[in-house]
Amino acid sequence: MNQKVVNEIKEIIRREDILRHIQKMDAYYHHGKITTMWHCIAVTYFSLKIASLLKLKIQKKSMVIGALFHDYYLYDWHVREKYHQFHGFKHAKFALKNSKKIYPINPIEKDIILNHMFPLTFNPPRYKESILVSAVDKGCSISETLFKTTYHELKQAFDTLNLK
Ligand SMILES: [Fe+2]
Ligand SMILES: [Fe+2]
Repeated sequence: MNQKVVNEIKEIIRREDILRHIQKMDAYYHHGKITTMWHCIAVTYFSLKIASLLKLKIQKKSMVIGALFHDYYLYDWHVREKYHQFHGFKHAKFALKNSKKIYPINPIEKDIILNHMFPLTFNPPRYKESILVSAVDKGCSISETLFKTTYHELKQAFDTLNLK
């Protein structure tokens, strides 16, 4: 774990006062035994880590906010309900709608959330922040589904924030 990256994310969560919103996603399973909250934290962590390895000039706060809320759709997609039928196509819109209610989402954050499912959804991400998050999201999803990742170290690294 890169502790500097972990600390940067924690600092943004504290400064922007969004912990209670992120924790809502811990009530829902995303892939396997990984809750949506841990999936979003993992996507945020690896996006930031790759950006730093590649020395990309990015809007750090926007990438963190967009990545943390990219799956903020707040339901269990395994439970069949009409309004979230075709979850894969529709959940980014729900995530954006919910995020806007609790945070002043800027254009980069909007693009990260709304277009993270490309190419399943029509519009490609337009910023380097959203392209990176969309790619990392796919990597994390594959790892959670096929390799049953537990994110054990990641969970430990974030423990002092009292994230379950
Ligand atoms: Fe998603
Ligand atoms: Fe995701």
